[in-house]
Amino acid sequence: MAFINDNYLKLPGSYLFAEIARRVSKFKEDHPAADIIRLGIGDVTRPLPEAVIKGLHTAVDEMADARTFRGYGPEQGYAFLIEKIIATDYAPLGVTLDVDEIFVSDGSKSDVGNIQEIFGVDNVVAITDPVYPVYLDTNVMAGRTGELAGGKFAGVTYLTCNAENNFTPELPEERADIIYLCFPNNPTGTTLPKEELKKWVDYAKANGSVILYDAAYEAYIQEPGIPHSIYEIEGAKEVAIEFRTFSKNAGFTGTRCAFTVVPKTVMAATKDGGQYPLNKLWNRRQTTKFNGVPYIIQRGAEAVYTPEGQRQIKELIDYYMVNAKTIREGLQSIGLDVFGGVNAPYIWLKTPKGYDSWSFFDKLLTEVNIVGTPGAGFGPAGEGYFRLTAFGSQESTQEAIDRIKTKLSL
Ligand code: MLT
Repeated sequence: MAFINDNYLKLPGSYLFAEIARRVSKFKEDHPAADIIRLGIGDVTRPLPEAVIKGLHTAVDEMADARTFRGYGPEQGYAFLIEKIIATDYAPLGVTLDVDEIFVSDGSKSDVGNIQEIFGVDNVVAITDPVYPVYLDTNVMAGRTGELAGGKFAGVTYLTCNAENNFTPELPEERADIIYLCFPNNPTGTTLPKEELKKWVDYAKANGSVILYDAAYEAYIQEPGIPHSIYEIEGAKEVAIEFRTFSKNAGFTGTRCAFTVVPKTVMAATKDGGQYPLNKLWNRRQTTKFNGVPYIIQRGAEAVYTPEGQRQIKELIDYYMVNAKTIREGLQSIGLDVFGGVNAPYIWLKTPKGYDSWSFFDKLLTEVNIVGTPGAGFGPAGEGYFRLTAFGSQESTQEAIDRIKTKLSL
């Protein structure tokens, strides 16, 4: 009989959002009349911007004509999209990138999950705690950790982020080879100022570490002075890989398009003491395992960079940020401790006295039919916290806050 990859057995039974979906379906089955408001998974609800729809339609028509039909495209993405990414997302920040430093993909979840494949299994991984579960789970699957005990996997460096340290991770005492950072943060919705991010870049340079920087929520930054890209920090192009997505800024969660920046200057060590560019390895990985994002979808993503597209995505973000304010201020008005939601679509709250993360999840679901995400699902330091997303409609978000304010027994 074949053997399984028993690293998978180290993981908890189900992926966090799958477990939440299971509990909500069960509740719905038992209470079919319940009007459930879902502020759990960070999934967008507004339709795609008009400019994107136009881009998609045109591309569909091209596929219907033998003269403009496309088969396999470049695995790394079409130049028409990559050039616009560089010109619009990076050039204004003073960041110069070559076309072959950007890899278009079907999502940041895939990329942040797959990137660990190009690193040796003995690297020490550091993650912030709480954390987007994909970073950790994929390293567990790859065998880069020991067993789970007391909520933590052996061999992983957990960087606690909580109200006590203002959600600012401290540099690890022991050496970390691969460091996952996500700002604006999922799940806490907090950000890191430039001087804090610089500490990480300096640490990585001094220790030969690589930073995997998830910037999925950068478009939600409202305040000046907060870095949109890690490459705004001097030296980051030598030590950091950055992940961006069209999911959260342009509503592509169901359409699937993202990109990853792997500067050719980011190196990792070879066994014989040499250095090897990670760009080359990621290119090898992608060309072997991935056939690129559909042409039609890349044309839709390209349309995000037209003047109308840029205006429309700003309107989308503004729409969701109204929800963030509604949630933040609504919860504060009933005396809850609330974080995030100013430069991010996530609101992170301390569970009321007497409730841990999961018991508060059950209370919200059963008493007021609202789904959120238990902080403990994002790691041990998330215990005692809870996440709500701003990605609902304005009406349902307002309704959810009204219910919490008037019907929840606290
Ligand atoms: C979340 O709820 O944390 C997000 O939906 C994660 C994701 O984008 O995969």
